[in-house]
Amino acid sequence: MSQAIKKLDDLVWILEKPFSPFGIRAGLRMSIIKTTTGLILYSPVRITDSEAIEIEKLGAVRVIIAPNAFHHLFLKQAVDRYPDAEVWAADGVQQKQKWFNGKIISRNSFPKAFESGIDFEIFNSIKLSKEVVLFHRASKTLFVTDLFFNFRKPFSIVEKIFWAVWGVSDKRLSLSRLIKILSRSNRKDFNQSLKNVLSFDFSRLVVTHGEMLESAAKPQVIELIENNFG
Ligand SMILES: [Fe+2]
Repeated sequence: MSQAIKKLDDLVWILEKPFSPFGIRAGLRMSIIKTTTGLILYSPVRITDSEAIEIEKLGAVRVIIAPNAFHHLFLKQAVDRYPDAEVWAADGVQQKQKWFNGKIISRNSFPKAFESGIDFEIFNSIKLSKEVVLFHRASKTLFVTDLFFNFRKPFSIVEKIFWAVWGVSDKRLSLSRLIKILSRSNRKDFNQSLKNVLSFDFSRLVVTHGEMLESAAKPQVIELIENNFG
């Protein structure tokens, strides 16, 4: 197998892509989770034909998830590539993608594939971008999109200025000021969602932007939350 799809675990893989809007290196990371019913693609990126061949070797794509209303740009391409897959999205994506004919994830309505080892939390408290976070029990992995950033490569001057506005560091796990602002009026619900996330027994954290935390991620998440809301 080539290097495009990276294996994290017997049941979890990632596909990373460069993504630098306005010269700000944000990067993108799609996660692939294998369940008993097939593969889940969380936060799809653009998938090339050769990458699709690699994915095919892992199993059949059964579920595609657009995790928030900022991450749907490559959803259509994934849906076209996997027309038989169920398409699920966080509430809000349907307003951004008019063709969307999938289902909206809620606490009462979610992919059946989740029943084989995936817990989830929906941050309905974040205005404009209600994020769906997944926890895969077998690999003890938490998957987030814009809830946390984990940049560790030193920022350029332009990036320093940009991220300073949003309170995002290149040295530690960060929760952006934008998330805080968007959840301000629903702080109680937001805190409850964070609490629910902390009830998951995760050790690995897969973020969409920045570096993954391969182990001992939970203490860092706890520290981050205490620093921001403690
Ligand atoms: Fe993002």
